[in-house]
Amino acid sequence: MATSDNPDKGDSHIPGEVSRADAGTFNGKHILLAVSSGIAAYKTPYLVRGLRAAGAEVEIILTANAHRFVSPMALQAVSGRSVRQDLWDEEAEAAMGHIELAKWADVVLIAPATANTLAKLAGGLADDLLSTVCLATEAPVVLAPAMNQRMYRHPATQQNLRTLDDQGYHVIGPDSGDQACGDTGPGRMTEPEDIMLQLEAFVAPALQAGLLTGKKVLVTTGPTVEAIDPVRFISNHSSGLQGLAIAEAARLAGAEVTLVAGPGVADCHAGIHRLDVRTAEEMYNAVHANLSGVSLFVGVAAVADYRPKQAAEQKIKRSGEAGASMHIELTENPDIIASVAKAAERPAVVVGFAAETNNTHAHASDKRLRKGLDAIVLNDVSDPTIGFNSSNNAATLIYAQGEVVFPRQSKQQLANSLIGQIPEIFAQQLAGTNPASMTK
Ligand code: C5P
Repeated sequence: MATSDNPDKGDSHIPGEVSRADAGTFNGKHILLAVSSGIAAYKTPYLVRGLRAAGAEVEIILTANAHRFVSPMALQAVSGRSVRQDLWDEEAEAAMGHIELAKWADVVLIAPATANTLAKLAGGLADDLLSTVCLATEAPVVLAPAMNQRMYRHPATQQNLRTLDDQGYHVIGPDSGDQACGDTGPGRMTEPEDIMLQLEAFVAPALQAGLLTGKKVLVTTGPTVEAIDPVRFISNHSSGLQGLAIAEAARLAGAEVTLVAGPGVADCHAGIHRLDVRTAEEMYNAVHANLSGVSLFVGVAAVADYRPKQAAEQKIKRSGEAGASMHIELTENPDIIASVAKAAERPAVVVGFAAETNNTHAHASDKRLRKGLDAIVLNDVSDPTIGFNSSNNAATLIYAQGEVVFPRQSKQQLANSLIGQIPEIFAQQLAGTNPASMTK
């Protein structure tokens, strides 16, 4: 064997595509996967695919011999990032230094964690990239041990696991069963899909768990599309990512979340009640049908302000004359958020978004007042590195008594910050809006 860390057999179960059921579970989460050298490393590309399908960004570290069990190229392909194998790699360090990497991670997952890796971590060594990052990070570190059953049972390994537990490391598995060496017993790495299920619990508490417990939150996101004819439409640029991230942050903060999503918005967590719509009118109807008992409404959708007065039943043909012009009569769509702010069942807190290109602060403040909103989140969309289809955003939350500036960060981080701030700023308005205690 190339390594003394004797692995699980694995060939009794070839993992398939890791379940996509919980797409959105890890939206925007930074997961640092460290792969140490055991045969179970061959399962890590499945793990990376599953994590990414669930919305995570994944950086990967390999220990010195891990490439013998899994190809760095395969991991690079599935993670979409280059794989780091050396603490002393100048190029990689220049891109993101190891301390930066330790800070970047929301959670560090070591899978497989070999007996040697456990021993090094228990001893606090820092002689390679994995062990150095583990000492430097403030993120939870989750271990998925994998080794021969006798190595696992050895008092030294058991002592190391107790030490790691005392130091705050978290352990998933190992499973018991047939092993590659022919032995049977504990030491098989937990299957990727089960690692993912357990990992969620370590990621979620980093958010504002409990802040919105018992509250109903309604979020709109994405564009609306308004038909001109059966093949053409009017719409806005919008990926829906920011609204998805807000719905997810609210869910993790304990809220009962309904998401009204326009076309093309990515999957969300199964725990979010999602309604898919196409037009502004459909969005308006879905919102008003679900307004009862809502404490917080966040309108992130880029709603088309106008729609063709009459959509043509057949595809409109070219006139054939060069330079000919054509006219489409437009009619104004309902302003959904303004109608929510005026509704008899007005949520305690109504928050809008303003994507502005010029005179941004004045336009956003004016919009807040005109629409009757408690707060507005200003996006400067003239900066191409944020907003629209980017995964980053920067914003200013403007409300009657002040404002909060959120510098450039991932949309999920921004959503977490907003959902962290809103219950604090509007504590009085939100108090006593628990739908469970409401009579209607
Ligand atoms: O007026 P403007 O579209 O810039 O306003 C942006 C805010 O208003 C966002 O919160 C957006 O979701 C909401 N909006 C709406 N219905 C419309 C237009 C905008 O809810 N028809």
